[in-house]
Amino acid sequence: MGDEKKSGVPIILGINAYHADAAACVMRGGSLLAAAEEERFRRVKHWAGFPSCAISYCLNEAKIDLGDVTSIAINRSGRANVLRKLAYMMGRRPSIHLVLGRMRNRRQIAGIPQELAALPGRPFAGAIVYVEHHLAHLASAFYPSPFREALAVSVDGFGDFASAAWGCGLKTSLSLGGRVLFPHSLGIFYQAMTQYLGFPHYGDEYKLMGLSAYGDRSYRRQVERLVSLHDDGSFSLNLKYFRHHREDITYEWPGGAPVCDPLFSPAFADALGPPRQPGSPLENRHRNLAWATQAVYEDAFFHLLNALQRRYGLTTLALAGGCAYNSVANGKIRDRTAFKRCYLQPAAGDAGGAIGAAYAVWHRHGARSAEMTHASWGPSFADTDLYALLADQQAALAAAGCSQHRIDDEKELVETTARAIADGLVVGWFQGRMEWGPRALGNRSILGDPRRADMKSILNLKIKRRESFRPFAPSVLREAVAEWFLREDDVPFMLQVLPIRSERRAQIPAVTHVDGTARLQTVHRAGNPRYYALIEAFYRLTGIPMVLNTSFNENEPVVCHPQEALDCFLRTAMDVLVLGNYVVRRGAARV
Ligand SMILES: [Fe+2]
Repeated sequence: MGDEKKSGVPIILGINAYHADAAACVMRGGSLLAAAEEERFRRVKHWAGFPSCAISYCLNEAKIDLGDVTSIAINRSGRANVLRKLAYMMGRRPSIHLVLGRMRNRRQIAGIPQELAALPGRPFAGAIVYVEHHLAHLASAFYPSPFREALAVSVDGFGDFASAAWGCGLKTSLSLGGRVLFPHSLGIFYQAMTQYLGFPHYGDEYKLMGLSAYGDRSYRRQVERLVSLHDDGSFSLNLKYFRHHREDITYEWPGGAPVCDPLFSPAFADALGPPRQPGSPLENRHRNLAWATQAVYEDAFFHLLNALQRRYGLTTLALAGGCAYNSVANGKIRDRTAFKRCYLQPAAGDAGGAIGAAYAVWHRHGARSAEMTHASWGPSFADTDLYALLADQQAALAAAGCSQHRIDDEKELVETTARAIADGLVVGWFQGRMEWGPRALGNRSILGDPRRADMKSILNLKIKRRESFRPFAPSVLREAVAEWFLREDDVPFMLQVLPIRSERRAQIPAVTHVDGTARLQTVHRAGNPRYYALIEAFYRLTGIPMVLNTSFNENEPVVCHPQEALDCFLRTAMDVLVLGNYVVRRGAARV
């Protein structure tokens, strides 16, 4: 340790702290070395607080300690939009709870030096740099993109008193062009509708998005009343339907799972009917409200994008913020705007603020960093670790009727796995470095046969227990996209939904959503050679150039450590577990 500091190469630790999806990354000389979300280590979904485990992982991966770090970049700035905040507080006279809540958030950020001091190793002696939340989002979108010049746009719930921002990126510079400020927010609109429809947990917006495909337009007019669009491309909320502008709704947390109070006011129920209680039956009204929510979100999102596209004249777009996980809307960008290319890095939401803050600090002086072409920035485990784990767990595996063998030949390993998938078995696939961002992309995945109409219910029965309306996604060989989808596009991080060619839909029912679309992941040989080889082997066997890919977990954060993968395998009815080169099979499963 210490060599980097002596050599003068800047080392930046990026942190997303106290927002949901707390995360850390480390960057040396403008190159990302490691990035991970805290939830994977703490085993609590969307964990929010100070990401000490993710920081420790990043420092270990870089073989340094805090004494080597030259700057710590944090995606939060108490100074951002401070005059607008003061004006709002004075003009609107919000409740004392809201004011006290804001003061509490400031105290948390001020406590970061103490949190750092508690970490092992030499103390941090560099500078802490606070980067405005949305500037970090924009930086997280533009700097790892392949674009020399692009419009960067960020849309989320809230961060530093703003809910959206945009700016122009050109080589190493990124200028902030404008913002939508509190209390107006598309993220809040979508989250309020998600809560109202009986999905109360942080991150449940995916459920509404999946449900929206089952509805029709019958509630469009009612939901349109909640959001107004303005000539300059911006939007505002009809505040009588919301609570967040009057009461203390928490957006930052000191630790644990983020919990958000209801955002909708009693006027919601007057306009749209009674809210759905969690777990109660889904009715057509709920499906139609979900459809209308997605439609109104898309109208506002494309209204903003089109206005910005006309204003700046650029055709390349880099997108971030929690709303950038709306993969249904993302899939329509090329149809509904003049943007020709769009880039999203895998952790487009608040976790991505960790890398965004680090990129923003690096590019104040440094050369343009490289394009992010893969998501493999998390922990990996050596073959000896996997061997030791399986040796240690031999009794538990035998008791569960499992057998194991090792396959060192790569071709044989992927062919064996492909055959198991084609035979209808559910396969846990644990390889290499854990993915950065919420999607499993072939390193911590559960795989199935996309041709089997019953695969969705098999997966839900054996492992996932998800709502039946939620689709499963395919990982597709990059070269096969045009043959199977109505649009030729590259979607390496599973952040766009595209329509499947109508004549192909019946061939892959397990990954075809009710509206004929799929949230695909395009797989490149260079980005993930072993996963590519596996899908290629499945293609040779079946003529189908894709596998069903869902995250390796059971109602918990995606597995990080091989022990968690093995526990999940033993706890559920998964048939096969491929852990590196080791193939573990449950009694009846033939492999
Ligand atoms: Fe955000």
